[in-house]
Amino acid sequence: TPLILLIIIGAYLLGSISSAVLICRLFGLPDPRESGSGNPGATNVYRLGGRKAAALVLVCDILKGMIPVWISYFLNVNPFLLGVIGIAACLGHIYPIFFHFRGGKGVATALGGLAPIGWDLSGMLISCWLLAVLVTGYSSLASLFTALAAPLFTWWVKPEYTMPVAMLSCLIVLRHHDNVKRLLDGNETKIWQKISQGN
Ligand code: G3P
Repeated sequence: TPLILLIIIGAYLLGSISSAVLICRLFGLPDPRESGSGNPGATNVYRLGGRKAAALVLVCDILKGMIPVWISYFLNVNPFLLGVIGIAACLGHIYPIFFHFRGGKGVATALGGLAPIGWDLSGMLISCWLLAVLVTGYSSLASLFTALAAPLFTWWVKPEYTMPVAMLSCLIVLRHHDNVKRLLDGNETKIWQKISQGN
């Protein structure tokens, strides 16, 4: 229906608002696309020295996924289309129309998009990510690990959402190709290594 199409476009446009770039400007931090890993996301903003800015980026990026999917969820949109809407928000975040299509990796936005599936799933994924960060120290590795675990967790708690979640996971994993290369080469930056410490 036209309403669904509008929501899909709206989700993409909302996702396209690069909160990392805007919040860094607001806080007088360097452009996250030009410093650190070059990624406009909460991890890199944290790396650039902005603890508060990073927390704000995280919340905004989560909301970009959460708002359109939740609205659709309350409109009784079916699981497949909810997935399409969540993916549209992530595609906006990754390929933002307002920022020369140079966006982030979609981890926070995907997490927000999954929230309507249930707090059990979100809780498991957040715990998985935190545990992986604590054990390895790498945000990217934690994101990769969580993205791979997400379809399994989903299949366990709400099987009807497995397909869209798996698609989101694929998108996130592919988007981390530079991180995978750095991890394999042994020069990925740990989450607590700030830019001023030579990274
Ligand atoms: O969510 C992005 C994270 O997984 C990696 O970020 O800046 O280390 O490439 P970054």
